[in-house]
Amino acid sequence: MADRSGWEAKYRSAARSIPDPDTFLCEARSYLPRHGVGAAADVASGGGRHALRLARWGFRVQAIDYSDEALRLCSERAAASGLKIETACVDLESPVVDLGIDRFDVVSVFNYLHRPLIPILKQSLRPGGIVIYKTYTRKQLQFGTGPKNPDFLLDENELPQLFAGFRHLLYRETCASEAAAALIAQRP
Ligand SMILES: C[S@@+](CC[C@H](N)C(=O)[O-])C[C@H]1O[C@@H](n2cnc3c(N)ncnc32)[C@H](O)[C@@H]1O
Repeated sequence: MADRSGWEAKYRSAARSIPDPDTFLCEARSYLPRHGVGAAADVASGGGRHALRLARWGFRVQAIDYSDEALRLCSERAAASGLKIETACVDLESPVVDLGIDRFDVVSVFNYLHRPLIPILKQSLRPGGIVIYKTYTRKQLQFGTGPKNPDFLLDENELPQLFAGFRHLLYRETCASEAAAALIAQRP
């Protein structure tokens, strides 16, 4: 996976058009509060393709990433779409990272893993709040794309264990064109 300067370069040269969100986000919609009422965080948001969709559904969204270029791109895309997104430049791997407590109704994470962040994500959700999490598993190594470092790849059945204590609403591991684990879970 790229380092910070690599991400900055990627987003600096990215197209201004908005890529489609992962279809898992759309699948998760039926588990979310109706009419998009509430606060959402898109964590490791990149250029905000998931943040923008959550905002379109009516959530007050904060896009969180450590790449200024990603957040600038996200804000530009939001403005061009007539949407409002708050951005926060945060190093999610800092030992003092703080996303607040009982703050969000929805937290989405796509294509990012830093295991020590999971308890911080859990406590940032309000009771009843929903986490939508999808990222690569170790089986992705066979495809030769995506992260190579095992620290960034989930083990089999690991994602539900990371969200132990939550109510698991949907869990799936797939290995087709990519190998990923996807979870929707609710804070009790
Ligand atoms: C593979 S991209 C995923 C972007 C987005 N979630 C998506 O699926 O389109 C990973 C993102 O994680 C961000 N990232 C990586 N390490 C980070 C860190 N330590 N703190 C905050 N963001 C980080 C990168 O800047 C990048 O935007």
